[in-house]
Amino acid sequence: MKATAEAAPNIAFIKYWGARDLAAGVPLNPSLSMTLDRCRARTTVEELAGAADDRVELAGADGGLAAAGDEFAAGVRRHLTALRAWAGSDRRFRVATRNNFPTGAGIASSAAGFAALATAFVAAVGRRAEAAELSRLARASGSGSAARSVLGGFVRWPAAGGDDEAPAEQLAPAEHWPLCDLIVVVDSGEKAVSSREGHRRAPTSPYFERRQAALVERLRQAEQAVAARDLERLGPVLEEEAVDLHLIAMSSRPPIFYWRPESLTVIEAVRDLRRRGLGVWFTMDAGPNVHVLCEPRDEPEAAAAFESLRPAVERVVRDRVGAGPVLLEEALF
Ligand code: DP6
Repeated sequence: MKATAEAAPNIAFIKYWGARDLAAGVPLNPSLSMTLDRCRARTTVEELAGAADDRVELAGADGGLAAAGDEFAAGVRRHLTALRAWAGSDRRFRVATRNNFPTGAGIASSAAGFAALATAFVAAVGRRAEAAELSRLARASGSGSAARSVLGGFVRWPAAGGDDEAPAEQLAPAEHWPLCDLIVVVDSGEKAVSSREGHRRAPTSPYFERRQAALVERLRQAEQAVAARDLERLGPVLEEEAVDLHLIAMSSRPPIFYWRPESLTVIEAVRDLRRRGLGVWFTMDAGPNVHVLCEPRDEPEAAAAFESLRPAVERVVRDRVGAGPVLLEEALF
């Protein structure tokens, strides 16, 4: 049996940073994100009759499939092991993935890839899973943020009222608030320190506990701002949270510096645009690239302003809020 699914990355407004159980992707704090729309990962999963090992492929720049690199393949195999345990299957699988955005473009793809893998796997073994179960299955990849990408729109993980192993829940669908995310890429290289290592080091920061305490109110503010579609209210929370994540990273032992001088150039441009009356607010994940959130009316002018920062800026990807994963007829093989 064979199935194909597509899913999008998400951008966190309140970040998952610090894990209680790294391998299982169990976070120390709740996070809140917006699922994206245009950047997508497509994954096809097929049972292999009588094979001894899983076969993992990745589409290259020309679209053709080739055996994936060791690190990527190991991540997929780990996830398949968890998915097999859930399905009670001892079969091996062929998995192929294609990102519709250039890989190595500085756009996080693991959340989208693992959300697509979980969704396609469930269908390939002839099962069905509700969103909550899919979220748990995506999280079992070890990429916790994948637990959020199985839902569209605005997503909280773990769900309110649940424990730290609870699945993600949708706070509002994409239609609720048509926000744009301009992904301002200043460095498309591999990040030097993985999120996984960042989670591991986070509690070594002297500011970690202070951040945990501050997050309760910050999350409440972010949820209320999303419910009210109030970017003027969400924006300051978004920026404070992004700086806080990097403050923790920079003060971890040993420290992690994800920012580049160009990241600051973009942040300055965001503030400048705000002084000129545009409603633009930044956030950053565990890397040097800057995500700028704005309403559709401000998007063209803001995008042009960031494009004009070349060569400090490599590219600007114009994304927006989107829906959760979909199953597709069109397979990769
Ligand atoms: C900074 O452990 O989900 O993006 O597997 O690399 O996607 P990847 O990382 P994961 O941690 C995500 C860290 C973050 C914040 C967030 O998305 O919540």
